[in-house]
Amino acid sequence: MRLIILNDNVPSKGLLNDWGWSLLVKGKHRFLFDADTRESVLAHNSKVLGVSLENLDFAVLSHWHYDHYGGFPHIAELNPGLRLYAPSGGEIRGLNIFEVHNVGEITDGVWTSGVLDDFEHAIGVETPSGLAVIVGCSHPGVDRLTRAVLKVSGYEKAHFVIGGFHYPSRRTLDRLAEITEFIAPAHCSGNAAKAYVRKRYPEKFVEVRTGSVLEI
Ligand SMILES: [Fe+2]
Ligand SMILES: [Fe+2]
Repeated sequence: MRLIILNDNVPSKGLLNDWGWSLLVKGKHRFLFDADTRESVLAHNSKVLGVSLENLDFAVLSHWHYDHYGGFPHIAELNPGLRLYAPSGGEIRGLNIFEVHNVGEITDGVWTSGVLDDFEHAIGVETPSGLAVIVGCSHPGVDRLTRAVLKVSGYEKAHFVIGGFHYPSRRTLDRLAEITEFIAPAHCSGNAAKAYVRKRYPEKFVEVRTGSVLEI
């Protein structure tokens, strides 16, 4: 499975950038997870990275914060009527919102944590190496979201966790490290969290930024 980071808070030369989060997942299913802040960032970066945002199988929105859904109108233009798995509380013209409430399987090999604290969900994707967990901002806690995904998918440990961890405490990161082989703090994780994982768990730390492509 391939993960293409279309936008992260950390910039890269030649790519547009802002505070936001969006990645394209290319595995058994081809789908977008979150859509950053601006349509132009998705349009420009996908072009430069040589990936098409057309013909997606579906899309996922972690939670209704603008830095995660701002670019969806562009996705709707390219994929009219596309199904968007999202918590309740918002709409995007041109997308077919499928409200996520409870923990469960979205489609073959893709699970949702269910919406935690009435606000945010995360997903787990089956890969040849194990379960990859993708989170948005982790307002309910990255360890809680990961545990919920593990429980529903039947995996004991996550192979990989990526996304915004929302300035987690060290305890949260320690709890995450116990159940995760590789950790990629991104978006709103904060420099302190990145530095802590890099130092305390060097064998687990994976660095990502705008334009990173990961093969899992
Ligand atoms: Fe965010
Ligand atoms: Fe957020």
